[in-house]
Amino acid sequence: MTRFSLSDRFDPKDPLAVFVFQKGQQLFWDGAAKNCPPAVLQTAKEDGYRGKPGGSFIVRPPEGKPAQRLLLLSAGERDELRPPVFRLLGATAAKRASDVGMKTLNVRLPKASGPLEKNIEAFVEGFLLGSYRYLRHKSSPDKTVMPDEIVFLVPEKRRVSLDAAISQGALYAEMTNYARDLINEPPSLKTPEMLSQKASELAGDRIKVEIFKKDVLAKRGMFALLGVNRGSAHPPALVHLRYVPAGKPKARLALVGKGITFDSGGLSLKASGGMKTMKCDMSGAAAVFAVFHALRRLQPRLEVHGITPLTENMPDGNAYKPGDVLRAANGKTIEVLNTDAEGRLVLADALSFAADLKPDAIVDVATLTGAATVALGKAYTALMSNNDVMTEKIRRASEKSGEKIWRLPLEPSYKEHLHSAVADLKNIGNEGEAGTIIGGLFLQEFVGQTPWVHLDIAATAWTNKATPMAPAGATGVMARTLLRYILAEGGAGR
Ligand code: BES
Ligand code: ZN
Ligand code: ZN
Repeated sequence: MTRFSLSDRFDPKDPLAVFVFQKGQQLFWDGAAKNCPPAVLQTAKEDGYRGKPGGSFIVRPPEGKPAQRLLLLSAGERDELRPPVFRLLGATAAKRASDVGMKTLNVRLPKASGPLEKNIEAFVEGFLLGSYRYLRHKSSPDKTVMPDEIVFLVPEKRRVSLDAAISQGALYAEMTNYARDLINEPPSLKTPEMLSQKASELAGDRIKVEIFKKDVLAKRGMFALLGVNRGSAHPPALVHLRYVPAGKPKARLALVGKGITFDSGGLSLKASGGMKTMKCDMSGAAAVFAVFHALRRLQPRLEVHGITPLTENMPDGNAYKPGDVLRAANGKTIEVLNTDAEGRLVLADALSFAADLKPDAIVDVATLTGAATVALGKAYTALMSNNDVMTEKIRRASEKSGEKIWRLPLEPSYKEHLHSAVADLKNIGNEGEAGTIIGGLFLQEFVGQTPWVHLDIAATAWTNKATPMAPAGATGVMARTLLRYILAEGGAGR
């Protein structure tokens, strides 16, 4: 893996990355790019470089000064130079560096209005997110070689705080890549048993892991999760992770993640097109596991619970059927009218369990509704909540991470869509009407009065198109946002 280091000197034989700004047609750089001959930008322009934000260009300056090769990173408007730009250009640098096989890349960051720490953190985060590849099952992986070393050219005296910033940026990326690895794994290799096993590996000093198997689930009345599991050849599990800080916790938080290891739709079978990516239906659980992966290294003053209901959703002779009635752990009965709306069923039990812990807040993360993409497209995670203060906190965390969130209303009058003639609730609303909100309203029935945020990541968990920060496949979305939320609530303990 690429190492990041700091230095005030560099070898001109290695490429040097500098930021280029744009104003109208004009391209320029700041004092940080000192010794870069101005003619270089003119030549680059003549060779077709336009400075499009997020883009890059490699030039060889005359006489090899200040380095034999310059990697121009296009930063757009000078006034908008903030961490998101550094994050994006970190990813751009990763792509360029690997494309041309750079071994060492020196980076000279421009002066920005915010603290250098935050900018370096974002650059490292973007670099490592952009470097991610899922190669486990390739017998001869394409030779995408990442550089051995990135050297930030900064004054010696800032070393201590910048080293910490580098670790922090790397942690956000690593936890996300950890989630991506879990999600990209083929569904038959990540059954509930195997994911439980993975979760057990998160146990440590301050982290306890408990795994509820079928008998315990039945004892606890989790018949919604058990119902969804009936068509599967693999038994279900519910993982309960618990992080307890050394001192008195500032607050107690529960994170709940949907963990459908494969969603065929069950008897309400999906068409093959819609089924193709359904190994991603445990992305919520993966985000929760990723948070605990990070909590092994950070020690916030917060008690954190992670709860993930795990099962496949499959059709067979034992499968649950449209018309069945299931009782969730909080006693509410649910008429199943579509076995493909299984996420809300397994979450009904998991949220009831979370609410019983009496936490100060619950956040759930779930690939819940295809309608989320219809409502907001692929760029936004849909947020629904019964609490404005918590919503604001999550929104702030998402602003810092760059993972976009948009709030949808939990419109009370739509609750009647979930009215069932035979049970307390049914698991679907009216076709084509506010499907994402209906999913949220359903979940709300299981959190009681606990302040709660629901994040529907159905649109954002998976990308068919590579972006600078993620290759095609799992995005690992929301892990980085949740960790930022936790750190804002509980600070880092060390
Ligand atoms: N796992 C799906 C939602 C999903 C769709 C996630 C596309 C990622 C991409 C979920 O279990 C589901 O099938 N939901 C149904 C709900 C409907 C039957 C009320 C849906 O969205 O069609
Ligand atoms: Zn489904
Ligand atoms: Zn699903």
